[in-house]
Amino acid sequence: MTETIESLLKEQKRYYPPEEFVRNANMNDPQIYEKAEEDFEGFWEELAYNIDWFEKWDTVLEWQPPHAKWFTGAKLNASYNCLDRHISKHGDKTALIWEGEMENSATYTYRELLDATARFAAALKEMGIKKGDVVTIYLPMIPEAVISMLACSRIGAPHSVVFAGFSADALAQRMNDSNSHYLITCDGYFHKGKLIEQKEKADIGLENCNCVEKVIVTNHAANAIAMKEDRDIWWDELIHNVDSECEPEHMDAEDILFLMYTSGTTGKPKGVVHTTGGYMVGTNVTSKWIFDLKDDDIYWCTADVGWITGHSYLVYGPLSNGATIVMHEGAPDYPDKGRFWDIVEKYGVTIFYTAPTAIRTFMKWGDDIPAKYDMSSLRLLGSVGEPINPKAWLWYYEVIGNSRCPIVDTWWQTETGMIMISPLPGLTTMKPGTATRPFPGIKASVLDDDGNEVPEGNGGSLAIERPWPSMIRTINGDEQRFLDTYWSKWGTDHYLAGDGARRDKDGYFWVLGRLDDVIKVSGHRLGTMEIESSLVSHKAVAEAAVDGKTDEIKGEVVVAYVILEADAEASDELKQELKEHVVEEIGPIARPKQIIFTDDLPKTRSGKIMRRVLKAITNDTEVGDITTLQDPAVVEELKRKVNELR
Ligand code: PRX
Repeated sequence: MTETIESLLKEQKRYYPPEEFVRNANMNDPQIYEKAEEDFEGFWEELAYNIDWFEKWDTVLEWQPPHAKWFTGAKLNASYNCLDRHISKHGDKTALIWEGEMENSATYTYRELLDATARFAAALKEMGIKKGDVVTIYLPMIPEAVISMLACSRIGAPHSVVFAGFSADALAQRMNDSNSHYLITCDGYFHKGKLIEQKEKADIGLENCNCVEKVIVTNHAANAIAMKEDRDIWWDELIHNVDSECEPEHMDAEDILFLMYTSGTTGKPKGVVHTTGGYMVGTNVTSKWIFDLKDDDIYWCTADVGWITGHSYLVYGPLSNGATIVMHEGAPDYPDKGRFWDIVEKYGVTIFYTAPTAIRTFMKWGDDIPAKYDMSSLRLLGSVGEPINPKAWLWYYEVIGNSRCPIVDTWWQTETGMIMISPLPGLTTMKPGTATRPFPGIKASVLDDDGNEVPEGNGGSLAIERPWPSMIRTINGDEQRFLDTYWSKWGTDHYLAGDGARRDKDGYFWVLGRLDDVIKVSGHRLGTMEIESSLVSHKAVAEAAVDGKTDEIKGEVVVAYVILEADAEASDELKQELKEHVVEEIGPIARPKQIIFTDDLPKTRSGKIMRRVLKAITNDTEVGDITTLQDPAVVEELKRKVNELR
């Protein structure tokens, strides 16, 4: 962390958006921040007119801290806003360009995407899915994932998208938690040329699911799969003979649009609940102003639909703006390391949104790779998921953006639903490494433990001061956890983001990383305790402590300290086995980079692992006061083991 702060402090150079960009920007009124402050409810109310409503709201905001209800009394449908309303003017405009892993591709106009969605929605209804039924989607980056999400929202069935790379166990856990009776998956897909048996994975997960009734399978990889009678049905059979008319359900603004599971500080992921009206208003305007979406833009967000970024800024935000989106199935280095730039050139991508870990990887691969492609179509770049270090920011700006594309470094979370801190590209002077200012209408602050604002330049805990439309409503089935996690530190006046931050003299926010037991590996959010519980479920493991170690490319990597059972023998084979065990339990993204066998862990006398001390050991920084440890000698012992690995 110290290193990060230092590097951030060093880079104070300013960058300005090109004049022409400023002139044409969707938002270039410098007064917008003050206007939003003068009448914050009025500000959001005005923006709500960018969404089509079947019935207007009675009240803009009902705030009973920490519960917000936005646009109460109003009725709308998310899929209607993403599709139907664009048809009269833009029916033939390309809505979705899909670029497949095997360099195959497909495009859908708005009319075609509406037809596909409405037909599938009608089929889901015919199958018995009703408003309020949770539908789990376990699909890779294929158009059917978008169609499924929009079809669910069309009939008022909250979707719960589970990242396709997650394991069978992770799928089962999420389906059980959300009591989801329906699953949409596919036969298989290719990742870097290798077949992933998705249906087989789903089947294994479903063995531990007592709630599942129907499984819809789309044919993607044409691999041989088993279909269970009376439970499994092919997508194509389901839509066969179904009319492509399906009236969008009139949803209450506060009806659930989706659940999105994310990692927290306990072993169990939490189902973040997002509702319809506020979420659509928030994602719509942030897409329009932050990404400056125009009619002729080709917008590419590289995030997977399995994450919140894929929900808000691949699907709902851009499509509600009538944009053309690019969706890519596959990896940035397959078939070669120029894949992303090849796609930029092929489709003339104008807006490109990705994660710092990807940028750092491209940087490592070298400038000559992007130099081979014509990327003059680009006009705006975005970053999300973790702090972007100034060096990576500058590389992105100069090499990818040719020093003429503003960069929007966007800070937000699964829980916030929409971008909360970011430049407005036609207004904000950029400084590499800072997400700059809160979006108009958002009030962020940096607080100490007692809830007092820390002085300028000092580090503290990032807080959001008042409600915003797309905020988390609760955690599915666990209201107490919702209250404890976000609203107990300072009371209900401030939402606890869980990130460290500082504010500089320009009022810009520098987000420094998580303060809790959440780590970010390649921008993916993982709970240390989630990985720990997966490790201790292995018969050889008595106890485990997991930590994030700073990594130049991935941001952080997983390091696991493991105490073995008395009858287990430490060996390299066992290390390998434990790594694979975590992959099976959670997924490849959680695979520990290093496993360190130990006899003890840094614990307090009451037996609690001192995370602060562990972090210092893992990252070879100052350990600080260890007098409260059960056995302070363990620190030296572990430091030695970690250093042996360096
Ligand atoms: O630590 C922050 C980091 O990602 C966390 C949220 O993760 P998740 O819910 O998976 O959502 C990621 C995509 C929105 C935050 O608490 N984070 C996200 N964006 C940034 C960031 N850290 C610094 N700068 C950012 N731009």
